[in-house]
Amino acid sequence: MDPVRNPYAPGAGQRPPELAGRDRELDVFDVVLERVARGRPERSLVLTGLRGVGKTVLLNTLRSQAIGRGWGTGKIEARTDHGLRRPLAAALHMAVRELAPRHRAPDRIDDFLGVLKAFALRDNPTGKIRDRWQPGIDVPARAGRADSGDIEIDLVELFTDAGSIATDVGTGIGLFIDEMQDLSTVDVSALCAACNELSQTGAPLIVVGAGLPHLPAVLSAAKSYSERLFRYQRIDRLDRISADQALCLPAQREGVEYEPKALDLLYEASGGYPYFIQAYGKATWDHAAGTRICAADVAVAAPEAEAELAVGFFGSRYERATPAEREYMRAMASLATGVPRAGDGEADAAVATAEVARVLARRPASLSPARDSLIKKGLIYSGERGTVAFTVPHFGRYLRTQPA
Ligand SMILES: Nc1ncnc2c1ncn2[C@@H]1O[C@H](COP(=O)(O)OP(=O)(O)OP(=O)(O)O)[C@@H](O)[C@H]1O
Ligand SMILES: [Mg+2]
Repeated sequence: MDPVRNPYAPGAGQRPPELAGRDRELDVFDVVLERVARGRPERSLVLTGLRGVGKTVLLNTLRSQAIGRGWGTGKIEARTDHGLRRPLAAALHMAVRELAPRHRAPDRIDDFLGVLKAFALRDNPTGKIRDRWQPGIDVPARAGRADSGDIEIDLVELFTDAGSIATDVGTGIGLFIDEMQDLSTVDVSALCAACNELSQTGAPLIVVGAGLPHLPAVLSAAKSYSERLFRYQRIDRLDRISADQALCLPAQREGVEYEPKALDLLYEASGGYPYFIQAYGKATWDHAAGTRICAADVAVAAPEAEAELAVGFFGSRYERATPAEREYMRAMASLATGVPRAGDGEADAAVATAEVARVLARRPASLSPARDSLIKKGLIYSGERGTVAFTVPHFGRYLRTQPA
C-alpha cells in the first residue's frame, strides 16, 4: 500500500500514531498534576521498563499533559559521565521562561534567573581550566544561593526557588528526566534529597523520571528513603487488546483494516513490544496489496521487518560491545530458558551470573569488568543480586540466531 500514508512509526522516541494501553498512567498523572498544583503532598513519578517499551514516548506525553495545564516544563536526557548542572539549568530555564509572561513581578523572575545562572556556572567538571561555556541567561549571576558547589544543597535551594515562582503563578513546574539510570551517584543522591525537601514543603515542582528496570535499585542505593519518595510505574509490553488497537486504529483512519489472522501473526512476532509492533506494522503495510491486510501480507513482510530490526535495533547495540562483552552476552543468551515461544517475554528471563561464569569456564570475579561495563552501556541490568538480564527485549533470541 501507499508508503506515503504508512502511519506506523518505529524509532526511538517516535510518537506512535496511537498511544495504546497507557490510559492508566495518563490518568494517574492527571491526578498528580492536580494535587501538586494545589500544594498537596505527592510523590514524584518514575517510569521503568525495557528498551523500546515506550518510556520516552510516554514521558513526552506526560510533559504535554503538564503543558496543557499551563505548567512550566523542561526535559533532560541524562548521560553517563555528564554532570546534572548544565542540562538541569537549561531545563529549568525553559520551564520558568514558559511561566514568566504570566508572572506579575518581572524582577522576581530575573532574581531567579540570576540564581539559576550562578547554579549553572558552578559546574566545573575538570576543576582545572575555566571553559568558556555560558548558560544562555541574560541576567547577571547572583552569588549566595544554589552556588555552594555542593550539588545537594544547591538543588534543594534551586528547586525551592523555582517552586515559589510556580506558586506565584498558581501552577507547577515539571522536570522530566529520561535515561535517569545514567545519572551519577552524586547527582542521583542530590535529586532524591531535593525531591524529599519538595515533598515536605509542598512546593509545586515535580520530577518525572524514566529509565531501565534497575532504576529503582539505583535510586535506593543513593538514598534509602527513595522508595517512599517515588511512585514507580512499570511500563511493559502491550496486552493483546492494546496491541491490536495500536495497529488497527491508525489503519482505520486511513480506511484500512486487518484480518483477525493477520493480527494473530503480528502479535506473535511482536510479543506486544511497542517498538516491534511499529516495525512489523510498518513493513506489513508497505507489502499489503489491498485495504484489507491479510495473514499472507504479514508472512511476506515479517522477514523484512526482522532484517531491519537485526540491523537497527539489535545490531547497533551489539556493535557497541567489546569482544569480551559480546562473549558474556552470548553466554547469557545460551542460558535463557529453553526454546523461546513466540510472543513470550520470558524468553529473555534473568540468568544467574554464576551460571554465566560456569558456561564460560571462568571465575565469576574475572567477569565482573565485562558485566559492569555492559550495565553501564545499558545493554544488561541486574534486577536482583546475582542475576543479569538483557535490557533489550528478544535480544537473547537475536544472539542465538547470530553466527559466533
Ligand atoms: N503505547 C504505545 N503504543 C504504540 N506504540 C508505541 C507505544 N509506546 C511506544 N510506542 C512505539 O515504540 C517505539 C519505542 O518507543 P520509545 O522510544 O518511547 O521506547 P523507550 O522505552 O524509550 O526505549 P529506549 O529504552 O530504547 O529509550 C516507538 O516507535 C514508539 O512509536
Ligand atoms: Mg527512551
